[in-house]
Amino acid sequence: MIVASDLLFSTLSGKNKVNPRFGDGPHRPSQAGLLSRGKVILGFTDYHSHILPALDDGSNDVLESLRMASILAEAGFSTVHCTPHRLVGAFEATPAQVVEQVATLQRSVDAADIPLQLLPGMEYYLDEFLMFNLQSPLPLGNSGLLLIEAPLQAIPPSLVHSLRQVRATGVTPLIAHPERCQVFFIPEGKGPATPRLSLRQALGGLLPGSGPRPAAVQPNTPLLDRLREMGCRFQADIASFSGGFGVEVQRRAMALLKMGVYTQLGSDAHRAKGLAETLRRGLLAIEEAAGKEALELLLK
Ligand SMILES: [Fe+2]
Repeated sequence: MIVASDLLFSTLSGKNKVNPRFGDGPHRPSQAGLLSRGKVILGFTDYHSHILPALDDGSNDVLESLRMASILAEAGFSTVHCTPHRLVGAFEATPAQVVEQVATLQRSVDAADIPLQLLPGMEYYLDEFLMFNLQSPLPLGNSGLLLIEAPLQAIPPSLVHSLRQVRATGVTPLIAHPERCQVFFIPEGKGPATPRLSLRQALGGLLPGSGPRPAAVQPNTPLLDRLREMGCRFQADIASFSGGFGVEVQRRAMALLKMGVYTQLGSDAHRAKGLAETLRRGLLAIEEAAGKEALELLLK
């Protein structure tokens, strides 16, 4: 049974201590941590991480991977999908290599007494090589989900076409961090006509305490609905809610969260540095906006 709320947020309240075994990471949750408190297992699942060492632009080495594992366990995660980039020409780890590295890192995690299960996966870039890569795909554990990153310059028709092809292979596309992709939003000025401004709005920054208002975020609802009808799912980066990718992405993430678009959460963690604070702020922001039950569902 997953019980987040008080346990999660009391632990995320900045009381992490230093674990001398892993440098500046927090201590493992053996005594004051989540897993021992009230015999409740939180069992949060991280659907997106770059925790495997030296495979892509994520963790640099095993020590950093153990720091990341320790921080994630401390935050209440018990399962982490290891999803290095699969991007032809840049990051070309094979499914077999990922599976092998997961097993290797799991042994180190176990030896360090960090209560975390690692599962193999991959973050596939949606390009012309994707279908070739899917001849032997590596889904997220046994979930049947395939983590896919849409290019920043994607256009709706080709995105739908490609994802339909992916769907036809029998896997379920889990679209990574849509809040970071312009294609899922209507560009400013191309949405429905803007209502007439009030005098105060028109004067903008000329009036004291009334700076120019940022344009409202407009999700591309027809596109999102179409992809959802096709069976696609959507994973949010926790860092998007903590402002790690800027204010615009933060506003987009909030808009999609309130629309109920997201089905999974991921740390998308690349480094140990700053991870604990990113998780703390991001999860609190999600809870504040959507409530504890919704947060727990996204972390299942
Ligand atoms: Fe990623």
